[in-house]
Amino acid sequence: MEPFNSKQPDVPRLFSLVALLLLATGMIWGVTGGLQYLMPGFLKTYLSFERIRPLHVSSVVFWIILGAMGAVLTYLQQHTGKKIVSAKLLKIQFILFTITVLLILISYCAGIFGGREYWEFHPLLSLPITVGWVLFLINFLRSAGSLKNQPVYVWMWLTGIVFFLFTFLESYLWVFPYFRNHVITDMTIQWKSYGSMVGAWNMLLYGSSIFLMDKINNHKKYSYSKIAFVLYFTGLFNLMFNWGHHIYTLPTHAYIKHISYAVSMTELFILGRIIYLWRASLTEARKNFYHISYRFLAAADLWIFLTLLLAIVMSVPAFNVYTHGTHITVAHTMGATIGINSFILLAISFDLLNDTCQSFEPFKKLFSRGYWLTNISLLVFWLSLIGAGVLKARWQMSQEQEVFQTMMQQLRPFFVLFFISGTTLLSGILMMIYPLLRNQWICYFKTNGEKKQRTRYLSARFSIE
Ligand code: HEM
Repeated sequence: MEPFNSKQPDVPRLFSLVALLLLATGMIWGVTGGLQYLMPGFLKTYLSFERIRPLHVSSVVFWIILGAMGAVLTYLQQHTGKKIVSAKLLKIQFILFTITVLLILISYCAGIFGGREYWEFHPLLSLPITVGWVLFLINFLRSAGSLKNQPVYVWMWLTGIVFFLFTFLESYLWVFPYFRNHVITDMTIQWKSYGSMVGAWNMLLYGSSIFLMDKINNHKKYSYSKIAFVLYFTGLFNLMFNWGHHIYTLPTHAYIKHISYAVSMTELFILGRIIYLWRASLTEARKNFYHISYRFLAAADLWIFLTLLLAIVMSVPAFNVYTHGTHITVAHTMGATIGINSFILLAISFDLLNDTCQSFEPFKKLFSRGYWLTNISLLVFWLSLIGAGVLKARWQMSQEQEVFQTMMQQLRPFFVLFFISGTTLLSGILMMIYPLLRNQWICYFKTNGEKKQRTRYLSARFSIE
């Protein structure tokens, strides 16, 4: 049978491609925001920090969401061995998402807001996202078939899709005055929905990473293993209850917060253990064959460990009082979304889009440099945010009432480091994804010469396989 990767790009892969473009542009907004930390008035008239922050955050959040959709849709086809049932619904879903994301980004540039933190776009734009997600659910259910005796990743995907829809709708309850007019209820629902939504997209990503690990191993050992189902149920419990730690500053029972924090850490611990056991079990030959995806999963494993360390410190109530509202929270969010979510997604992107129309061989060196630059930069980036957070926390709790400006002056060296490492992080990731984007470019817009080269390449490749 012809491998799926040899086919012309299809709609599920288009999701992954658009996601990669959002990652690249999203990081450029991030670096601009980093520069604004250093030069507060920079681009104030047209692209102030109030616009840059949502441009960055929405772009990278949609990188994760669209990337997760692309992964689930492609891997579902590989799992069932059949195409997604309704090509038409799939196309509508793709068009709805791409046009809406574009409108969201344009509206930020034009200074049109109306939403809330993380979803700052006008609430009307949430409607096409909801419709697109419902189409995703329908197509998934029709294509997956019976749920009997399915591996863990199918359960993870289904749970992730259903819960994302639920929590997304929940995060818009504030549009009704009944919820908006009760401040504590409103804030609790808001943060609960955000916490659970992250749990939902993690389900999509963890499910896809387990599929990928089994694919690399060439058996279904992990997707039917007990530990994978333990991860599934912990993740489910997590997305239902882990939000307690998002509302530390609201007046709820302390035990709710502590239980939820402990649960959110068990999930990371189990995922880390699955990747660790999988890496130990892999033969050298298979490691080499899926070299790039393997390297991203190995890096994600390290970042799970570092994120766990920071989360343990942040979960101690005495520390949490300090860290709340500082750059330590941003370090935690960015460490997890880059080091875990984005690395898992990059492992998947390389599996899906790597060398379908051109050989990866000439880009190996560039990739390797980019990989190390990314990892080292991310560590410095993360530490600089923690450093800035510690100083700010000290200032927040200090009795001496030092003026804000003086404190900001003290943070400056950390902001310089943050900006420089952010820029090298951007460069590292661009160096890695360039061959992927170029490959897609050739697939779509290839010239005659490249077409011949591609035919030669593919015939050589598949005669070996
Ligand atoms: C894969 C790449 C990235 C992802 C997934 C990502 C993710 C995020 C997320 C989720 C937030 C919101 C944090 C929060 O509110 O707690 C954020 C904020 C931010 N990010 Fe990134 N980020 C990425 C790369 C970058 C880079 C390369 C820079 C460059 C310096 C950067 C600069 C910023 C800035 C300035 C903020 C605003 C923080 C604030 O509100 O004070 N990000 N990012």
